[in-house]
Amino acid sequence: MIRSLLLMVLLLSGCASLAGDTPYRQFGGRQGLEVLVEDLLVRVLEDPGIGHYFLDVDLDNLHARLVEQFCAELGGPCVYRGRTMRESHATLGISEADFNALVEHLVAVMEARGVPRTARNRLLARLAPMRREIVRP
Ligand code: HEM
Repeated sequence: MIRSLLLMVLLLSGCASLAGDTPYRQFGGRQGLEVLVEDLLVRVLEDPGIGHYFLDVDLDNLHARLVEQFCAELGGPCVYRGRTMRESHATLGISEADFNALVEHLVAVMEARGVPRTARNRLLARLAPMRREIVRP
């Protein structure tokens, strides 16, 4: 009896911790997102195909806005305070290929940091609809 009770408690606490494992937590919370976005910006800046877009950009601001945005999209305790995707990308002339290149860098850094597949897919699914606001018409 005691043993089965103990087993039940163990199982239930296991479920509770799984349920509490939000995508935000699976990314390592705020700190995890900060290093991830840094990795992303390094890769993007080094990419000869799209690095030029970021030459005159305030990278500290971009880093902060991306962390905020990803955190909010992943259900974390953040509010995105940047401009809309349409506003911030309107004059840049970003192509589908540019967009795909950035997403590939994002996938690569998430994999390299060991973000679980479900959490990776969650972020990609949240960002996908932004394509139409970012890619030039
Ligand atoms: C899902 C894809 C993307 C997301 C979620 C995203 C998100 C953001 C965010 C949050 C900002 C900051 C806005 C602000 O400062 O208020 C920003 C700015 C910027 N993004 Fe993106 N972006 C995406 C795709 C791209 C792509 C594909 C490029 C170019 C290849 C790009 C180039 C830029 C540049 C150059 C800025 C700075 C604009 C400025 O400061 O005037 N973005 N983006």
